[in-house]
Amino acid sequence: MFSGPSVFSGLDPSLIERAATFIRSGRLVAFPTETVYGLGANALDAEAVARIYSVKGRPPSSPLIVHVASIEMAESLAAEWPPLADRLAQKFWPGPLTLVVKKQAAIPAIVTANLATVGLRMPAHPIALALIQAAGVPLAAPSANRFTELSPTTADHVRRSLASSSSSEVGLILDGGPCQVGIESTVLSIVGPGAVLLRPGGISRSELESVAGPVAAAQEVQAGPHLAPGMHPRHYSPRTSLYLPENGNVPERGHGIYLQYRCPAHRADVAIRQMPLSAVEYAAALYDALHQADEENYDWIAVDLPPDGAEWEAVRDRLKRAATK
Ligand code: TXA
Ligand code: MG
Repeated sequence: MFSGPSVFSGLDPSLIERAATFIRSGRLVAFPTETVYGLGANALDAEAVARIYSVKGRPPSSPLIVHVASIEMAESLAAEWPPLADRLAQKFWPGPLTLVVKKQAAIPAIVTANLATVGLRMPAHPIALALIQAAGVPLAAPSANRFTELSPTTADHVRRSLASSSSSEVGLILDGGPCQVGIESTVLSIVGPGAVLLRPGGISRSELESVAGPVAAAQEVQAGPHLAPGMHPRHYSPRTSLYLPENGNVPERGHGIYLQYRCPAHRADVAIRQMPLSAVEYAAALYDALHQADEENYDWIAVDLPPDGAEWEAVRDRLKRAATK
């Protein structure tokens, strides 16, 4: 039914070795992380990284996150590794936090969209860590979806999104089950005098502040064109039009699905999916709910926006970006 790269499951050493061989030979491997699935290439090989941009259809102005298997590996890729980087990495790695620091010359310009900085992250998934270790190189990896589409949180989402790619580009897809966190990592810049939140994500601002002190939001600082390129609108979108109605006022027409938080829908003839009430569980369920709604070909998706509390910052950010303008 689907063409494209094959999916293999589990943490089998021979499979990891095969995937690592693809990485070393300049091909791409899709792999699970605790946030979303990534599409990885050897971060030190500019040609391999160029393949990521072409498979994703991603503009070259959007820098990639470099995934490492240890703090030492991160340090070796940074021109400066400030004490704050160390404190944050000790506390939150492996985990959903990307630290933007000054980069080493060894990282090709294509990885960072010509920026002098690099986003580094040590993922908390055994398959991701095993792959980086076996390949022996850091992995540049964006989410394993086509540009502006929804991020994948299962191997099946990846397979559907990359079905048109050739296996000479994407060697294989490693299946590590559904992603536990379910939304992308928090991106935090620590190159300036204070820490700046470039993208809310799996680690909340209050968790960061317990280690880093006050964290400014990117909107509060001068936002240059490349400060946080992933923050442009209509990222993280399903194909189906998505609305954020107030008080359950879903669209009057069409056959839609309502992702309910607490407020019931005003129309009785819509499909209802009750979303989890806790922010952590909601995040883990969100992309799969949107992928499923896309598969079911509704005319629209309406989402009952969760409350404006600190723990909901990342979920609300993704929903607002996904909403139809
Ligand atoms: O959870 C995640 O972060 C996932 C998994 C695969 O690790 N990756 C991911 O990658 O979401 P991507 O490419 O979809 O998003 C990368 C984000 C973008 O918002 C990008 O602008 C930001 O990280 N970023 C990367 N390097 C940066 C840099 N040097 N300066 C500023 N922002 C950077
Ligand atoms: Mg992405």
